[in-house]
Amino acid sequence: MKKKMVAGNWKMNTDFQEAEDLLYSIEDLLADKGPDTNVVICTPYPFLELATDRSSETELFAVGAQNVSSFEDGAYTGEVSARMLDSIGVSYCIIGHSERRKYFKEDNATLAQKVKMALKYDMAPIFCVGEVLEEREANRHFDVIRQQIEESLFDLDDGDFENVIIAYEPVWAIGTGKTATPEQAEEVHAFIRSLVREKYGDDMAEKLYILYGGSCNAKNAADLFAQLDVDGGLIGGASLKAEDFVSICVQASK
Ligand code: 13P
Repeated sequence: MKKKMVAGNWKMNTDFQEAEDLLYSIEDLLADKGPDTNVVICTPYPFLELATDRSSETELFAVGAQNVSSFEDGAYTGEVSARMLDSIGVSYCIIGHSERRKYFKEDNATLAQKVKMALKYDMAPIFCVGEVLEEREANRHFDVIRQQIEESLFDLDDGDFENVIIAYEPVWAIGTGKTATPEQAEEVHAFIRSLVREKYGDDMAEKLYILYGGSCNAKNAADLFAQLDVDGGLIGGASLKAEDFVSICVQASK
């Protein structure tokens, strides 16, 4: 079985001092507990370099951004390019989070560009998919997820796709305290793996990391991670508390 991955998405939280304190606390606990888990911390942009400095010193975690520009360089005021992120040691990038789809109107075609930019500059995209509540209630969640994956990822050749991580985040479970049941998560994860198997073959499907996100916390992580196709978690709220986050990392290493 492959080593699991736990990625923390801090979203738009913390100031510099809080970010530094949180990183140090996570570091201390990771060093103490030593979980055999791939740990990724996705901080806001202004704190990424602080995080990559710590990560190159301690090698306890890798660092991810939460977004990247779909453009490469130039006159795009306020944007942050993949080259910039790569140049400060960022190795992962969340792309297509439902909050970006909803509040910033990012569509599947734009997200496909972002994925390509991340890959071009050696960052592994953590590509988020998931349905809203009405789509689940109408039993349309499989179609929605298929379309998100086909339109943003299935143009990639094998050499690129093998660096992609997919996160299943049912939108109704994000920040709501309403987690998908382990069975609901497994059903969708198995479906995602089957799509990848059809398109890229068995080896690629087996190697693919599929993370679960949506009110995953220190209490429910073990049950979710016990599912066959759940390769780890993408953690929001609980990643802002060092003890909870590291507890989830420890549960992933069992
Ligand atoms: P919560 O864990 O706060 O529900 O957030 C999940 C998420 O959106 C991670 O990207």
